[in-house]
Amino acid sequence: MRLNLPGQIATVSLVFACAVTVAFASPKPSASAGQKVLEANHCTMCHSLKGVGGKIGPDLAGVGSRRKPDWIAKQIEDPKSHNAKSIMPSFAQLSKREREDLVAYLSTLKEVPASR
Ligand code: HEC
Repeated sequence: MRLNLPGQIATVSLVFACAVTVAFASPKPSASAGQKVLEANHCTMCHSLKGVGGKIGPDLAGVGSRRKPDWIAKQIEDPKSHNAKSIMPSFAQLSKREREDLVAYLSTLKEVPASR
């Protein structure tokens, strides 16, 4: 076997560069990015959030307490999987990243215990 050091170094550097790119291109789902995805996709046409928005769908306040992240992800991708007659459109056309961010955001909307 012929030793091809420059070639090996180049290969190792390339693999490293790819790994770094992947690490930076797909950081953890971000709730703040998810809030922007929600705004950009007019979810509040049907859902209210913090007192603003439509009444066609349920208020999203506290949805993070009512629903598991997987359930929310499924609702966004395929609302008819939970309710065959759902009028909520599927948002499966969003990128995986955008849907993950949305789920991260909605999961932060916890039920606030009623104050006494
Ligand atoms: C055309 C109206 C409409 C739009 C737009 C819409 N939804 Fe919905 N959504 C509904 C309705 C109606 C329901 C009630 C359950 C069902 O019928 O699917 C619902 C249910 C949900 C639920 C479950 C809430 C719960 O407490 O059970 C989540 C989460 C949700 N929608 C998220 C979203 C997100 C995120 C968006 C934007 C990307 C969005 N929806 C856009 C109508 C809509």
